[in-house]
Order: sequence, then C-alpha cells, then structure tokens
Amino acid sequence: MARKKIALVGAGNIGGTLAHLAALKGLGDIVLFDVVEGVPQGKALDLSQCGPVEGFDASITGTNDYADIAGADVVIVTAGVARKPGMSRDDLLGINLKVMKAVGEGIAANCPDAFVICITNPLDAMVWALREFSGLPANKVVGMAGVLDSARFATFLAWEFGVSVKDVNAFVLGGHGDTMVPVLSYSTINGIPVADMAKIKGISEDRLGEIVQRTRSGGGEIVALLKTGSAFYAPATSAISMAEAYLYDQKRILPCAVQVDGKYGVDGLYVGVPVVIGAGGAEEVIEISLTDEEKANLGVSVDAVKELLDACKALDSSLA
Ligand code: APR
Repeated sequence: MARKKIALVGAGNIGGTLAHLAALKGLGDIVLFDVVEGVPQGKALDLSQCGPVEGFDASITGTNDYADIAGADVVIVTAGVARKPGMSRDDLLGINLKVMKAVGEGIAANCPDAFVICITNPLDAMVWALREFSGLPANKVVGMAGVLDSARFATFLAWEFGVSVKDVNAFVLGGHGDTMVPVLSYSTINGIPVADMAKIKGISEDRLGEIVQRTRSGGGEIVALLKTGSAFYAPATSAISMAEAYLYDQKRILPCAVQVDGKYGVDGLYVGVPVVIGAGGAEEVIEISLTDEEKANLGVSVDAVKELLDACKALDSSLA
C-alpha cells in the first residue's frame, strides 16, 4: 500500500513540530510548504536526518510551490502569523484572513479530497474562511482547538488533584478564545465527576473556577512567557491526534471546531463541539445536554465567533 501523504502548510514552529511528530509516528510522507524560501527545505533536510536515528523511512520535503501538495490525504494548516505578548488571537484576523484565501485556493487546486485541519488563529473564523475559500465539503475541513484546550484543562486538573493525566477526561466547548467553555459537568477523573473528586480532595469551587480561568487564558500564559511567539508543542500534538483519527478511521470523539448545522442552537457556524472523527472526516456532531449556565456561556462564545465572521465579511466581500 502506498504511503499516505501529509501536507503541512506553514513551516514555522507548529509546522516543524507537526512534521517531526508525523515522521516519528509513521503517518506517511511529509511535504512542508511555506512562502519563505529555504525554511521548509531546511527543516525538511534537518528532519530527514532524524530518519537514520529514529528508523523512519518517510520522505520529508520542503517546497514553496503548491503543486507539491498535490494528492495529499491530510493537510494541516498553520500558515500565517502567531501572537506576540499583548495581542489577542483576534488581532491576527486581518493578516491571516488573506493567508487563508491563498491556502484555500492552493488546497482546492491540488488536493480537494484531503482532510484539512486548520490551526491558524483566530481559529473559529479562520477555519470557516478556509472552508469558504477552498470550497471543500464542511465535513472535510475542521479546526484544532478543543483537543488542545481540553489538554490544557486536563493538565491543570491532574496537577490540582495530584493524579495521572491519563485518568483525566476534560471537556471544553465553544470558540478557541477567552470565551471558551470548559465543561466541568462532563469532566471526570477516571469516571468520577470532577465536582465529586473536588469534595474528596477538599478543593473549593473557587479553586475550580481558577482552573477554568487558567484554561481559558492558557494560550496567553504561554505567549507571555515565550515573548516571541505562541505555543507549538501541544497544538501540534493535538492536531496529530485528529489526523490519526481520520487516517485510521478511529471514530474518536474529539472536541473540534466543525461546522454546526442546527445542533446546540447553532446554524452554519464553526464552533468547538464534540464530534466523531473517522474516515469520513467530521462524521457526526454529538450534542450533549448542558446546564443553563453552560448553555449561556456557550451562547456568549458563539456570539464572539459570529462577531469574528462579521469582521471577516467586512474585510473580504467574497465571504459576505
Ligand atoms: N502561506 C504559507 N505559509 C505562510 C504564509 C502563507 N501565505 N504566510 C505566512 N506563512 C508561514 C510563515 O512564513 C511561518 O513560517 O507560516 C508560518 C507560521 O509559523 P510561526 O510564525 O512559527 O507560527 P506558529 O507558532 O507555527 O503558529 C501558526 O497557528 O496557533 C496558531 O496563532 C498561531 O496563527 C498562528 C499559527
């Protein structure tokens, strides 16, 4: 069987980490694309030289030509600019919208059958715009946010409870911004609801609230520390888990930004919800029941996404 082809559009911090992980996990041959000449080629050469040590045979190439992503099975998009301290994800909108147009056209022309995972921020608006510009079916264009936000939430919960991260199942819904909705009612420690575990461990509701807040601003915390860019290891790992779910038809239920048509009271927007990812791409949105407070919080998050889409439409009339 021929190897799968993984195209990484954007060969920056996340793109390079994605290539490394994809090679180590043997997902397929890898093409790194970037507009900057030399960077994707240099990273591809460096990564190729991991092969003899790690024992992988994947072909890893770098390019500045969209023709080289032809026939890709999976495309992961990180092209654009990342945040610097003091910037919100929304501050990136103007620049990254133009980038999504070029990327969407490149994908449509060269690999219209691919499963596309967008990471570029502001995520919910960029994945929507990428779908619009590419014209691909909505089930084949998804955004990576919820897996990362849930991983951040799970990390903080595991630290607080003093338990293995392997036993924490944390749930985050909504947009990938300050209004995201970490859902405590669906978060468990090996099946034990977080609220019950908090009682057992003597952890107050206020403290849980602080953990929720730290999750919401988890990306910003890293931007403030790095000063020159934003998180890249965990975003890359999260996107790779989504690519694996698609390539291996795992039918995993992962929180992803997908086009929601009707469920959660949302119509035609990309929002973070639990979705089955398998060979059909985003196969089914799972609608969980929420408390009134969670519903209200999700509504705020959805409104924030809508505002971003309006801003996109104002910037590019072809989206209106
Ligand atoms: N086409 C392809 N690549 C592009 C384009 C474009 N039109 N414009 C910029 N790039 C490339 C840059 O040259 C750079 O190599 O995208 C890459 C982005 O890499 P970094 O700046 O290192 O950013 P990274 O940390 O990888 O994050 C990328 O993901 O999480 C989001 O907010 C983050 O939007 C940002 C994106």
